[in-house]
Amino acid sequence: MNVGLKTQIVPVDEAALVAAAHVLAQGGLVAFPTETVYGLGADAANPVAIARLYQAKGRPSFNPLIAHVFDLKAAQRIGRFDAPALALAEAFWPGPLTLVLPKTRDCAVADLATAGLDTVAIRVPAHKVARQILRAFGGAVVAPSANLSGHVSSTTALHVQSDLEGRIDLIIDGGPVEVGVESTIVGCFETPKLLRPGGVPRDGIERVLGHALEQPAPDAVKPLAPGILGSHYAPRSRLRLNAESIEAGEALLAFGPAMPKGADGAKAVMNLSTRGDLVEAAANLFSYLRALDSRAARAIAVMPIPQDGLGEAINDRLRRAAMGRE
Ligand code: TXA
Ligand code: MG
Repeated sequence: MNVGLKTQIVPVDEAALVAAAHVLAQGGLVAFPTETVYGLGADAANPVAIARLYQAKGRPSFNPLIAHVFDLKAAQRIGRFDAPALALAEAFWPGPLTLVLPKTRDCAVADLATAGLDTVAIRVPAHKVARQILRAFGGAVVAPSANLSGHVSSTTALHVQSDLEGRIDLIIDGGPVEVGVESTIVGCFETPKLLRPGGVPRDGIERVLGHALEQPAPDAVKPLAPGILGSHYAPRSRLRLNAESIEAGEALLAFGPAMPKGADGAKAVMNLSTRGDLVEAAANLFSYLRALDSRAARAIAVMPIPQDGLGEAINDRLRRAAMGRE
């Protein structure tokens, strides 16, 4: 756990921005203001930093995260823009709009941050401090709202402190935020869909698109709703969870130093963490699942993962991935 870290709280100045960029580059966690709510930032390309971020928030599951970038050019390096996406970006960025787009081929955002999906959520924030940090750091920063899982989003540095003190490295205090609700999320991977209402009102988006946003029936909202059904990674291979031994033709997703019976005959073996470290395991989870999935095995046998710490989130995602095939 990150608990026990000394969390520094600093007012915004030149030194604070340099420190923020430095902590991010080292794989640390920095809370900073955006115009919507305070975000808890980590280097989007560093899976271990992202695993620590989920741990610090106490998330029971790995919801995909928003990658924050400095400008449209940086956004185009990680997401593929169609015409509606480009129109929305030009109208509302920088600002409280997040676009979910297909990943580019060399998208540098870690699989753990997108929860193994082929899409990536991108936002160019408008807040001066957020922008200064993004410029100083140079890369994409994933940032969920800076609160403990299940708590409301933080709109002041004090809220952040009361939730995350001792769990993160640095809090940049830029005063209270303006919008107070999270960004609007629009999915632009097929017909544009409103995935989450937020800081940019629906009618503004419809005006730019020139037509009404698809209005999913209340029941259909759930599968579209981020982080719930429909936005989880489903491998083609069947997943066999809590495997104590390996059957012929299976690939093995291992955890810890001890190998199960039959492991020698496995079609492929990847170990989430040979030393049984759950942070390391979380960091590797989605890339290893993808790698094993490409081996066309009869099934992917997954060794039992302990339920403590990040294990709960790992098991949650494994269960969802397994369900996709039933
Ligand atoms: O205003 C905001 O958006 C704030 C500030 C800090 O930028 N951030 C924020 O992040 O609200 P978070 O993690 O609390 O919410 C991100 C939402 C989640 O509901 C997640 O499921 C969704 O974005 N999301 C991220 N990537 C997605 C994807 N590829 N497909 C669908 N939904 C996605
Ligand atoms: Mg949130």
